[in-house]
Amino acid sequence: MEVDIAEFDYSNHAHLRDANNLLDNIIDDNGYNYDIVMDIGCGSGRVTSLIDCRLRCEQIMAIDIDMRAIKFAQKNYPSPRIRYQVLDISLPWDKLDPVIRKYENQVDLIISNRVLHWIEDKNLAVQNIYRLLKPGGMCYSNVTTLLDLFTDLTQDERDKFSELIVIPSENEQKEQLRTLFEKNKFNIHWIELLHLQQLYPKDEFRSNVLPYFPNLTKKYLIEKDPIKRNSIMASGLSDYVKNAFLRLYSREIIEANGIPDKYELTYGQIRIIIQK
Ligand SMILES: C[S@@+](CC[C@H](N)C(=O)[O-])C[C@H]1O[C@@H](n2cnc3c(N)ncnc32)[C@H](O)[C@@H]1O
Repeated sequence: MEVDIAEFDYSNHAHLRDANNLLDNIIDDNGYNYDIVMDIGCGSGRVTSLIDCRLRCEQIMAIDIDMRAIKFAQKNYPSPRIRYQVLDISLPWDKLDPVIRKYENQVDLIISNRVLHWIEDKNLAVQNIYRLLKPGGMCYSNVTTLLDLFTDLTQDERDKFSELIVIPSENEQKEQLRTLFEKNKFNIHWIELLHLQQLYPKDEFRSNVLPYFPNLTKKYLIEKDPIKRNSIMASGLSDYVKNAFLRLYSREIIEANGIPDKYELTYGQIRIIIQK
């Protein structure tokens, strides 16, 4: 399922809150002034615009693999300091657009809010981030974890799912990320696993937020072929995932008039701060 950029932009309250938290860390650690900042996986541009408002940057290079997102960002969140560019950060260095390669060893600060979990083979992305940063440059990232979707099932039911999908524990997901950055010569300043809550209006939650989880779950299927993956999800796993999130990690908030009006979602996140 393709994400509708305008709908994402409208309902990404949790992304904004998480980006604001990263920016609080950045300002506390390093202050306000930066020459070159890069926003990797900028999406609709709303978070890039927040970066532009909260920091004093000479230039912000904002990249995303999705051309629709870049067009939306250019139209809705323009700034004289921001340059938006379509780019897949997980390509080999030599295949990256020369516009980006010219930033090798130049970037003071890389921010990547809720992006890395979408990239299955993260090694090239991490290598590119390393090459782009100047020596001593910092990268602040929030990475969404996939929570355990099978926790209330019997062992037999779990075994059935394990033929299709492997979801590492959240601690394993964190340790995999730590190993990946360490292997690529980064110094890890901070890595933590968080559980966060966010309220969503009921309709928005069902139409815009719940469909996000089957898309993320797809990345953990043992099957790698994209077409076969889509048919596995369509054959019932997608509905199972949505229901598991409703059952295990969401709760309806009942207003004073007794009408259920909002959902509170719990989601997992790894916050990582690393230095070249
Ligand atoms: C959940 S959105 C987050 C957008 C924005 N950072 C925010 O916090 O609102 C994830 C974004 O990562 C982008 N993305 C996924 N894989 C990517 C890749 N390999 N290279 C660049 N961007 C990527 C997607 O297109 C999407 O816009």
